[in-house]
Amino acid sequence: MIPTISHWIGQEQAIRRFKVALEASWNDGTKLPHMLFYGCPGTGKTMLAHLAAKEMGVKIHERLAQVMNFPGTLNGLLMQAQDKDVIFLDEVHELVHPAQTVLYRAMEGQQISLRSNVNDTYNMPIKDVTIIGATTDEYHLLSPLRQRFKVVIPFSLYDVTSLAKIIDQRARLIGIDIHQDIAIQIAIRSRGTPRFAIRLLESCQRYARSKGEEIVTMQHFEETVDMDCIDELGLTLDDQRIINFLTIQPSKPVRLFTLEAATGIHRRTIQEVIEPFLIRMGLIERTPQGRVITEQGIRHVESTTQVETVSKATS
Ligand SMILES: Nc1ncnc2c1ncn2[C@@H]1O[C@H](COP(=O)(O)OP(=O)(O)OP(=O)(O)O)[C@@H](O)[C@H]1O
Ligand SMILES: [Mg+2]
Repeated sequence: MIPTISHWIGQEQAIRRFKVALEASWNDGTKLPHMLFYGCPGTGKTMLAHLAAKEMGVKIHERLAQVMNFPGTLNGLLMQAQDKDVIFLDEVHELVHPAQTVLYRAMEGQQISLRSNVNDTYNMPIKDVTIIGATTDEYHLLSPLRQRFKVVIPFSLYDVTSLAKIIDQRARLIGIDIHQDIAIQIAIRSRGTPRFAIRLLESCQRYARSKGEEIVTMQHFEETVDMDCIDELGLTLDDQRIINFLTIQPSKPVRLFTLEAATGIHRRTIQEVIEPFLIRMGLIERTPQGRVITEQGIRHVESTTQVETVSKATS
């Protein structure tokens, strides 16, 4: 969908490392080095892997690591790929340890070990492929595997300017007319993440289309975020329920099980999806005794409650 690296927006520091690897491979006529992309969900790891293959003019074999855990599946893929092909393993930390071992041996020795009978194994050469791994959890990888990735690229959250450019680019691609001010408003509520930004843009587009209109106006945007319950910091309804509960007794730490029981949100979702963002925004803190709301969190809840009260009173 994004044709070349010149269409990539943001993450300048990380992308510089990628471009150097790409240029060097082009100049030397070699395959790309093995690369590891790590960082938050929705920040462009999959997109960059596809872009790498496209820029090199090679085939990409994309697999979710979980499905490579069946015996022989990873070997099969490694045997099937051709010289310079990209094997993209998404969520690479989900590979079980024996599969991680197969992978790092293949990355280094360009061969895999096959069993000829019960007691005997032999080595089989494979083509000179590039492994790109993507993960949200780099330190879940075995250290020998992590060390075999020659280029490691961290993906951080995007600033509002970059997100607004991504929104603008996507809007043109899907044929929506959107004013710069609205692109910035969407960017502000997108939690630093292109996936959120694109989702909110598409939601605004649906809203405008439901009214039979081609252009997304500020009113469409405001009604969309109201409908989707996304507040001005990008907090969703679930985020809001968690911080609202923590403000009931602000100084008292709340345990995960209590939060789960009080809000009905599964503890894994609280722990892995909701909390990291709320902590990053400085709205809550995690202490050994439980979760507590910060001063900033209290101010945010108060300001959103005031906005709601005012809008109810005036409607
Ligand atoms: N820098 C960017 N420029 C333009 N579009 C981007 C950029 N980064 C991400 N996107 C777009 O945002 C969406 C999410 O990106 P992508 O799927 O690559 O994220 P990811 O890091 O692989 O997420 P996950 O960890 O969940 O797999 C895609 O539609 C992608 O095209
Ligand atoms: Mg991905």
